[in-house]
This record gives sequence, C-alpha cells and structure tokens, in this order.
Amino acid sequence: MANKNLTSAKKAKNDEFYTQFGDIQKEIEAYLEYNPDVFRNKVVYCNCDDPYESNFFRYFVLNFNKLGLKQLITTSYKPSPVANTQLGLFGDDKSLAKSKGRPKVTANKFIINEAHDMDGDGEFDLKDVAKQLKANKQNKWTPLEGDGDFRSDECIDILKQSDIVITNPPFSLFRPYVKQLFDYNKQFVIIGSMNAITCKEIFPLIRANRLWLGATGNGSDMVFAVPNGSEIADRDRQKAA
Ligand SMILES: C[S@@+](CC[C@H](N)C(=O)[O-])C[C@H]1O[C@@H](n2cnc3c(N)ncnc32)[C@H](O)[C@@H]1O
Repeated sequence: MANKNLTSAKKAKNDEFYTQFGDIQKEIEAYLEYNPDVFRNKVVYCNCDDPYESNFFRYFVLNFNKLGLKQLITTSYKPSPVANTQLGLFGDDKSLAKSKGRPKVTANKFIINEAHDMDGDGEFDLKDVAKQLKANKQNKWTPLEGDGDFRSDECIDILKQSDIVITNPPFSLFRPYVKQLFDYNKQFVIIGSMNAITCKEIFPLIRANRLWLGATGNGSDMVFAVPNGSEIADRDRQKAA
C-alpha cells in the first residue's frame, strides 16, 4: 500500500483509500474525553469495511472492552479491489494459519460479541480475534448473500439493529450514504470531504444542528493508504511522506 492525500484520492475517481489507525483513534478519543461511556452497550456497525483491511475494525475490536461495546459488526463490499486480498490483519502473524475456508471473493460479515485473551498469553490482541473468529462461536464470520452494498436489504437489516455507524464511506456515494443514515435515524461518525459541506443535501443538516464537523482539524489534510498501482501525484506523495 502507498499513501496519498484526500484530494488526489477524490481525483482518482474511485473509492478505494483506507483510513489510518491513528486518525480513527484521535477522532474517537476526542468523544471519549467528552463522555467516556459514549459507546457503552452500543452496537457499532462499520458498513464499508473489509475487516481484513479496515483500521475501523481493528480499532474497535482492540478497544472493544475499553469502550464497553455490546457488539461490533463490519461488512465488506465484494467489488472492492482489495476484497479478500489484504490479509495483513491476521496474515502478518506467521503463527496463524492462513485464512483457511475463506471463499475467494465474497462480501463478508464479522460479528464481535466478546473480546478476550484466547491463547493464554495474558494479552488481548488480533491473534485472539482470529482464534475467536475461527472458532465461530461467540464471534462470527459469515459470507454475505449479496455484494455488501450498504443499501442492500441484508445490510439495512444490520443497520436497523445497530446504534452507531462508523466508517469512511465511498465518496462517490456520500450523499445517498448520509441520507440513509438519517432515514434510519442512526447516530454516526463518518469521514467526508470538506467539499461535502456545501452540498445542498448536507449543508442544511449542519445549519439545523443535526450534523456536526468532527474533532479532527478542519484545515488538516488526512493521509490515506491506497491499493498498489494507484496513480499518485508527486505533490501528494511528498505531502504524504
Ligand atoms: C473510502 S474507502 C474506505 C474503506 C474503509 N472504510 C477505511 O476507512 O479504510 C470506501 C470503501 O467503501 C467500499 N464501497 C464502495 N461502494 C460501496 C457500497 N455501495 N456499499 C458498501 N461499500 C462500498 C469500497 O470498496 C471501499 O472499500
């Protein structure tokens, strides 16, 4: 994966750029400072997130107990070019078996109900998550029936069961994405381009105090990861570096 900034990610006319762990951590921790129990007993749904590449999944599963989550659900999108290819999440660890039994290309649903030390090393980490998912008991992995489109019936069913939606959605679908969150009356934390503020669908929500800008500095450029082979302008590459 290489880095590039948000502007060029938009220009690339695709929706494939991935949020860094530290950016998610900074934003979420700003809410915790305000209210440490803001996520307690909540079902968090990341609906544009391949658990194998998403730092949203990684952040929320690793902080599951600290945040007091009731459940974490993530679903991925089958047409994503990194679907089932980025195995870094569990694959970096040589002691783990390769993702056995994982179908070649599917959209996936991961449900995390509990997070605890499984291998007795005294810590809870991603190895434990992998073990729990493999056991497929309290925590479950299943392929979705459809392609994982956030507007599909099966994803909407999950949306209805969730309390807070948290992700970086595809920019090309930002407006219908936000509309759906309001249609289902969901709380959410999502990443969007600053340009979205001026959209006729978005600005009235801000004006009506129904949508707020996040804690992450509005003037700050975020750096994202992109799939290998993506075109990156030199200027953006330097900025990201
Ligand atoms: C900007 S990327 C962010 C990925 C991840 N959420 C992150 O922050 O690292 C948007 C993701 O949404 C996926 N996507 C595109 N269209 C989608 C759709 N209709 N429904 C669900 N996911 C979609 C893309 O494949 C991509 O992985």
